[in-house]
Amino acid sequence: MAHSTEANEPREYHSSALISEVNANKVEDILRELKETKQKLGDLEAKFHAFNTKNGKSYPDVKYQNFRSKKRILVTGGGGFVGSHLVDRLMYEGHEVTIVDNFFTGNKNNVEHWIGHNNFEMIHQDIVNPLFIEVDEIYHLASPASPPHYMFNPVKTIKTNTIGTINMLGLAKRVGAKILIASTSEVYGDPEVHPQPETYWGNVNPIGPRACYDEGKRVSETLSYAYAKQEKVSVRVARIFNTYGPRMNLQDGRVVSNFILQALRNETITVYGSGKQTRSFQYVSDLVDGLIALMNSNYSLPVNLGNPTEHTITEFAVIIKKLVGGKNKIQMVNAVEDDPQRRRPDITRAMTYLNWKPKIPLKTGLEKTIKYFKDELNRQNIHGFA
Ligand SMILES: NC(=O)c1ccc[n+]([C@@H]2O[C@H](COP(=O)([O-])OP(=O)(O)OC[C@H]3O[C@@H](n4cnc5c(N)ncnc54)[C@H](O)[C@@H]3O)[C@@H](O)[C@H]2O)c1
Repeated sequence: MAHSTEANEPREYHSSALISEVNANKVEDILRELKETKQKLGDLEAKFHAFNTKNGKSYPDVKYQNFRSKKRILVTGGGGFVGSHLVDRLMYEGHEVTIVDNFFTGNKNNVEHWIGHNNFEMIHQDIVNPLFIEVDEIYHLASPASPPHYMFNPVKTIKTNTIGTINMLGLAKRVGAKILIASTSEVYGDPEVHPQPETYWGNVNPIGPRACYDEGKRVSETLSYAYAKQEKVSVRVARIFNTYGPRMNLQDGRVVSNFILQALRNETITVYGSGKQTRSFQYVSDLVDGLIALMNSNYSLPVNLGNPTEHTITEFAVIIKKLVGGKNKIQMVNAVEDDPQRRRPDITRAMTYLNWKPKIPLKTGLEKTIKYFKDELNRQNIHGFA
């Protein structure tokens, strides 16, 4: 036994030495591979950085989409308030986004962070003139949205919403793109039904000061369904209710921007009419969620997108005054002609067919908006906020 043990010893020793030598080689190989992988990762990281960086400019990170999943998307009015937030979301998703805008109410600053990015293109053009471009989807948002802006040149507002919409529907027909039209709660006019379901036909004054916009959008919807029926264009119609958030035009003239500006400037907060008229406001990110969900759905009838939580205008004045923290007076002034008395969406359709409902509470949204307004005032160095 002793003999045999002795005889086995060198062999055992030999094999365990061999094993450790093999293991050492393996470890070396693994270490070398690790080093090479690290080097490759570093190279990739540098390439990725170079891709996202041009002329010393760096861009927000975007997802990678392959040629099958990457969509070519046109956003008309993409330099505006809602459009620019939608552009952000589509860019983050890794799609190729082209905006077309005449910058009447929009601002290049809103999309400045994408200028020069490989996936982004900006066309400075009025949509009243036809546009020839190859795309898969069109979000048609171009139109002034606030009363002072759309009343500034009513004929132009009608042209934008009729001729401009025909141009976009014609483009969708030519290239086989799906198109989403940004309609509005204004199609319900001064509603006699509360909350407003999509089946309500509205109460619109066809010759009032708001008619250029309200009737323009109604024709826009009519055109969409005519193209859908006659030309088989795939249409989506979003009836957007009041929306607020950062990048709203400071000169917008609507309740939220007026009240925030007055509160920040320590001016009297002016409420038109009795202040008992109600509005419901949705935060812009909720709207963007809804627009994308609608575009991606198979639902082609109009869908309300809005926040059903209703507040009186006076309540809004008080909430904003509190959040800004000023000691402003709130004063009632003369009512505005054709100002709707109540506005509240019935969002059953959006909940049923898009599984969508607004998420952002009013206070959270207002805080972000107030911060944006403060920063903008600082930037513009207005009224000693710098
Ligand atoms: N913000 C809201 O509360 C609200 C409510 C209902 C409907 N909508 C609709 O949503 C869309 C976007 O509204 P928004 O609040 O972002 O308004 P916005 O004024 O900030 O954006 C509209 C954009 O369209 C551009 N535009 C206007 N006319 C054009 C034309 N003829 N050619 C090319 N570009 C043109 C403007 O320069 C601007 O960039 C509009 O169609 C509006 O009617 C908005």
